[in-house]
Amino acid sequence: MNVSVKKALVIGGMSGIGLATSKQLAALGATVVAVSRNPDRAGDVPKGITLKSCDVLDRNALGALFKAYAPFDILVGAATGGTRARGTFIDMDIEGYKASFAKLWGYANILQLGVPHMSADGTIVLVSGSPARKSRPGQVAIASVGGAVEALVRAVAPEIVPRRLNVVSPGSIDTPMSSLTGAEREESYRKQTAKNLIPRAGTADEVAQGILFVIQNDFVTGTTVDVDGGLMLS
Ligand SMILES: NC(=O)c1ccc[n+]([C@@H]2O[C@H](COP(=O)([O-])OP(=O)(O)OC[C@H]3O[C@@H](n4cnc5c(N)ncnc54)[C@H](OP(=O)(O)O)[C@@H]3O)[C@@H](O)[C@H]2O)c1
Repeated sequence: MNVSVKKALVIGGMSGIGLATSKQLAALGATVVAVSRNPDRAGDVPKGITLKSCDVLDRNALGALFKAYAPFDILVGAATGGTRARGTFIDMDIEGYKASFAKLWGYANILQLGVPHMSADGTIVLVSGSPARKSRPGQVAIASVGGAVEALVRAVAPEIVPRRLNVVSPGSIDTPMSSLTGAEREESYRKQTAKNLIPRAGTADEVAQGILFVIQNDFVTGTTVDVDGGLMLS
């Protein structure tokens, strides 16, 4: 796909990986609508990006947004959706575990409500996370949700051809998702990535490059692309 003349909606597109994706798409000439609950988070954005407020869990609002921008060509789901439970499963508050699936429900809304408004050669990318296939103790909630996201994509991709649907799976990425600051932040990323083949946190731009790859390559669908510094082999 040549994105230069395309219209893109990036859900969760005002921070971290989504914002980097919005910027890379806009730099290539795409018309981008970046969506999240709080547009103030994005700061100054380059020309070509419009900011829209919407909660991905609000099906009425999301459906209306898709209708307003139809037809569009590129749909990216990068919203965290809500809170994420951490800790070992046996000790985990079951309501916290269930609440972590807000990300999956957001993605389900994006797919079900968005795809019918896309052009026939449209392309969709969702963002999972490395714990989906390599979980460490304490990551059961994000592992379960990420695994469900990847299974959802494999199941839905054959149903929506000729549109394409892929997942990009990041490892540890330095984004505003982590609230840690200063030395504590550096130490956290150092510990998380010490055993990776590339022992550092990735950048939002590096993950966005993976998202741009599956958007642009017309021969890729139903698959997961890892952007994780070799975490899978650690
Ligand atoms: N960073 C990592 O290390 C990492 C690793 C693996 C996977 N991931 C995944 O990558 C994706 C992007 O993460 P990130 O690191 O870029 O996080 P981020 O910087 O916190 O950005 C998340 C974005 O999602 C939006 N969002 C959250 N809930 C939303 C909702 N209910 N409705 C609409 N927008 C919502 C946020 O904006 P508002 O709060 O304003 O709505 C924000 O724009 C997520 O799915 C995350 O799970 C990240």
